[in-house]
Parts: sequence; structure tokens; C-alpha cells
Amino acid sequence: MSDSSDDDVPTLSAHTLAALQEFYNETSEPSTTPSDQFAVGAVEEDWRMSQFWYSDETAAQLAEEVVREAGEGGRIACVSAPSVYQKLKQGVVEGSDRVSAVVLEYDRRFAIYGDDFIFYDYNEPLSLVANVAPQSFDVVLADPPYLSEECLSKVAETIKYLSKGKVLLCTGAIMEKLAKDLLDVKMCSFLPKHNRSLNNEFRCFVNYPSRLLS
Ligand SMILES: C[S@@+](CC[C@H](N)C(=O)[O-])C[C@H]1O[C@@H](n2cnc3c(N)ncnc32)[C@H](O)[C@@H]1O
Repeated sequence: MSDSSDDDVPTLSAHTLAALQEFYNETSEPSTTPSDQFAVGAVEEDWRMSQFWYSDETAAQLAEEVVREAGEGGRIACVSAPSVYQKLKQGVVEGSDRVSAVVLEYDRRFAIYGDDFIFYDYNEPLSLVANVAPQSFDVVLADPPYLSEECLSKVAETIKYLSKGKVLLCTGAIMEKLAKDLLDVKMCSFLPKHNRSLNNEFRCFVNYPSRLLS
């Protein structure tokens, strides 16, 4: 008997090794789950684009609201609100598999979502008419990037173009009067939260009898 330790190492044929490797490839867990790309924060906040992501809980609550309001087979437009789109696609909100959603965004990093991504610049509020049919969304949720009359007025033009009726607007409480004038929305009691604290009081507004009102 040889004292060489090599003799103790079992050897496998190249064919067996290849078969074993194939087995491991098929059975081992992927390092990321398929839903990771839809996690809120999968795309990092960039303050230069006024990006402040909702907390995971708020994104889920807003996603639940739009699913409930869109109904079976409903279409949802998330305008400058990518976290809600992500939450709808993450597979964690009941009924989200029975609606469809798109994300209208200025940040082209969200083009990772393929055909669901529609480039959107509020400065050109109706530039999307070539690609999107009018009044084709059951619920339009929007979170304009800036607290200015100019920005909200232009986003409101987009909302009116997209909406069949139901509008959920998320913006600063100071926009209440203008939001009412432009979109006939009421301020909700529901308090949306963000991952980072904002300087301004932030609220949701709806133009339909929502659970978020009380
Ligand atoms: C205040 S954040 C709202 C994000 C929301 N809280 C969320 O978690 O999904 C404003 C959004 O407007 C987008 N944005 C920035 N500049 C824009 C522009 N010129 N036109 C349209 N959207 C813009 C940002 O990328 C960002 O997603």
C-alpha cells in the first residue's frame, strides 16, 4: 500500500464530472431571486432627479390601493412613481397578477423593465401620445418630482390624458389647493412614508371614494 495521499482522493471520469456539474447547475439556488429586480430601491435614489423612494410599507399600501381600484384586468399607470410599479411587479401584493402596470419615468435606468417602461419628461406632458392611447388607464398614480405650480400643472395634463377616471396623486400638502383646482382631488388621512425623512409634509390625494380618505 502506497503512503501517497493522492491515492486516497477518489477520481471521477470527465463524463461523470460533467454530469455532476449539470446536476448542480440545475438544482442549486440562483444567487438572486427573480423578484429582486423589483425590490423598492433596486434602482438607487439619485437626488439630482428629486428621487425619494417610499418606504416598503407605503409602496405596498399604495400598490394594494391601486389594485383594489383598478379591478380585475385593470390597467395602472405609475407616473414618476417607480416604487409602486416595482411593488406591483414583486409578486407580494394580492391581486397584482390580475392587473397590468406601466412606469412612466424620466430616469432611463428604469428601462430595465422593458416594454413596461415609458420615457416621460413632465416638461413635455403630451409627448407620449404617439405611444400611449388616451384615457387608457383605470388608475393613474402620480408623484411629480417638484413642488411647483408649473410641474404639477404639466403633470396634471399628462394625468388627464392617461386617465379613465381614478387619480391618486402623491405630493406635498402645500399643493392641496392647486391639486383640487387642477384634478378635483381631496387630501387623504393616509400618511405616506419615505425611506428618508422629507422636509415637507407629504400627502396623498384622490378623486374617488377611497379607503385612504378615512
Ligand atoms: C419625488 S420622486 C417620486 C418617487 C416616489 N416617491 C417613489 O418612491 O416611487 C419624483 C420622481 O420623478 C422623477 N423625475 C425626475 N425628473 C423628472 C422629469 N423631468 N419628468 C418626469 N419625472 C421626473 C424621478 O426620477 C422620481 O422617480
